[in-house]
Amino acid sequence: MHKINIAIDGPASSGKSTIAKIIAKDFGFVYTDTGAMYRGVTYLAIKHQVSFLDETALIELIENYPITFKQTDWGQAVLIQGEDVTQALRQPEVTNHVSEVSALPGVRDHLVKVQQKIAASGGVVMDGRDIGTTVLPQAEVKIFLVASASERAKRRYKENQDKGIKSNYNTLKKEIEQRDYTDSHRETSPLKQAKDASLVDTTGFSIDEVVATVESIVKEKMGEVK
Ligand code: CDP
Ligand code: CDP
Repeated sequence: MHKINIAIDGPASSGKSTIAKIIAKDFGFVYTDTGAMYRGVTYLAIKHQVSFLDETALIELIENYPITFKQTDWGQAVLIQGEDVTQALRQPEVTNHVSEVSALPGVRDHLVKVQQKIAASGGVVMDGRDIGTTVLPQAEVKIFLVASASERAKRRYKENQDKGIKSNYNTLKKEIEQRDYTDSHRETSPLKQAKDASLVDTTGFSIDEVVATVESIVKEKMGEVK
């Protein structure tokens, strides 16, 4: 059977990675978290004290310290030079600066090429902000996941609580809204629903319910492209 690619885009905490991982497992596809790549560059910039505005130095970091993925029982680990940075990439310092780094056209150009290579032979579920519009405009399935800002802040709050991390709901909501604004208003590949993407509003829906909706869209498309 023809190996299709699935693009999942949407704003922060809309459930992209959770849903993408389950879909990839159920269909035997490879999951790729492109947000982790932008977070990876931001993490490296902090670690090596490189300015978030110094595009040339940031691209050098990407070339010298490639970000790789390792499939695990629970999903996926992110590695830089063999070091597991999965948790480090979720630190508030990285989250609060990643949108500055991801707005730089040179950084995007570089990472988009890496992402396109990963998906070149199909069978990939890739999540991010510009997968359906820029990275994989030919993807056979495109999903745009959304949820209200308060629902998304509640999800992040609960996620932190479960991990034993103290957080403030109002701060989380403000940070999410700020990041959505920056991601949607940048000049290069802003967060935007592709014209041919299926919009799935996950507000008030459980993970299982969203997975069922997305899988029925995927099965319908797979039937079409067989
Ligand atoms: O998981 P969460 O929704 O918080 O964010 P993420 O998917 O890890 O992405 C982190 C940031 O990377 C986003 O806020 C965007 O600024 C950037 N990003 C992007 O510009 N393009 C992508 N394809 C993926 C992420
Ligand atoms: O990748 P993205 O930032 O879009 O979101 P995520 O990290 O997959 O999901 C954020 C949080 O929302 C996680 O803790 C998920 O378990 C939770 N979630 C949920 O409660 N209900 C959904 N329908 C989807 C995700």
